[in-house]
Amino acid sequence: MKTLTLKDLNVKNKRVLLRLDLNVPLSSPDETGKRTITDDTRIREAIPTLEYLRTQGAKIIVMSHLGRPKAKRTSEDSLLPAAERIAELLKCDVTLADDCVGEGIELKAQSLVAGDILILENVRFHAEEEANDLGFAQSLARLGEVYVNDAFGTAHRKHASTYRLPSLMPHKAMGLLIEKEVRAFDALIKNPERPFALILGGAKVTDKIKTVNSLYRHVQTVMIGGAMAFAFMKARGDTIPASWKQPSDDDVTAAKQLIAEAETKGIRLILPIDTVDGCDIGPKTVSAFIEGLAGAKTVFWNGPLGWFEKPEYAKGTNQVAEYLSTQSSLRVVGGGDTVAAIHASGFAEKFSHLSTGGGAALEYIENGGLPGIAILQPQEYRPESQPFAMDEEVEG
Ligand code: 3PG
Repeated sequence: MKTLTLKDLNVKNKRVLLRLDLNVPLSSPDETGKRTITDDTRIREAIPTLEYLRTQGAKIIVMSHLGRPKAKRTSEDSLLPAAERIAELLKCDVTLADDCVGEGIELKAQSLVAGDILILENVRFHAEEEANDLGFAQSLARLGEVYVNDAFGTAHRKHASTYRLPSLMPHKAMGLLIEKEVRAFDALIKNPERPFALILGGAKVTDKIKTVNSLYRHVQTVMIGGAMAFAFMKARGDTIPASWKQPSDDDVTAAKQLIAEAETKGIRLILPIDTVDGCDIGPKTVSAFIEGLAGAKTVFWNGPLGWFEKPEYAKGTNQVAEYLSTQSSLRVVGGGDTVAAIHASGFAEKFSHLSTGGGAALEYIENGGLPGIAILQPQEYRPESQPFAMDEEVEG
């Protein structure tokens, strides 16, 4: 059975439990304890679903986590900055509840009118969230009649609000952001247009080996920059200068495996031929990468090519981004740091898709799906674990 999308649901006057990923980077607290959002991409990407639900007359109850508070309730991990930004972007009032479950929250949910937005406080203030706890999911389920997941960045987690709760809800769908992410990643992993080029960067090979192995089925060229390139260079027998970041033995072993596999499959690997102080790819490498990308019909980029936060080491990443901005290929970028680097390059608008998922994007590629999306299929309804009655039938 096909997973429903938001537009398949009748949400008019229904209480819609909307799981978002409002886990955005925040500054350190100022002298008044206030934290400021440093990148609001995930919030902006949630706006179309919120707007759609409002125009359809839904009563919206937003759930999200922020950070990893380990069940400790702290103002540092409050969703207050995210709630304020949502209100600002939608130009409407939103209410931030002081918790996410309990009688008081149920009363608040019951009193919503069409178009209202109630944001529940960080679900990770409760240990039961990460434990995928049934009782906690049941408490959340009591708040709403329809479930929508638009938290792509958290869809690889089997937590109560992303996994147990939707199993209790007969009426559920993916939101507009998840729909967009799924479309982009499916285009990469299901019969992608060739030639397919993969750009890899960042620090550790071991974090990405499964994703790369999975993409090896499709790609013709792989370009490797960032500190992880040193693992490949060492695996090839090069000496890594002492002043550069030394790769771990595990990373070198993983790189050896990927080099051998590439040889077997006839995949062209392009490694750095020069660097800037070991902190960025050098100009000859930029040219080699651009030559490797020429003619590609599909490109997936994961991992910055240098220490892009420092302007003197951002050139490699920026120049490759600039080249790709001129192409008409399908160009998908995944991973929090990589997306931040592309934004910093100034060419973000020119890419086909910038994913809001870090780990989720890589796991989608690895497994062809994510638990938080699979559980939205209509047959994944387990009413036997639902001791409360649904309020009313929802068409959809
Ligand atoms: C992310 O930032 O990747 C998601 O919000 C998931 O967060 P987590 O890694 O703390 O589960």
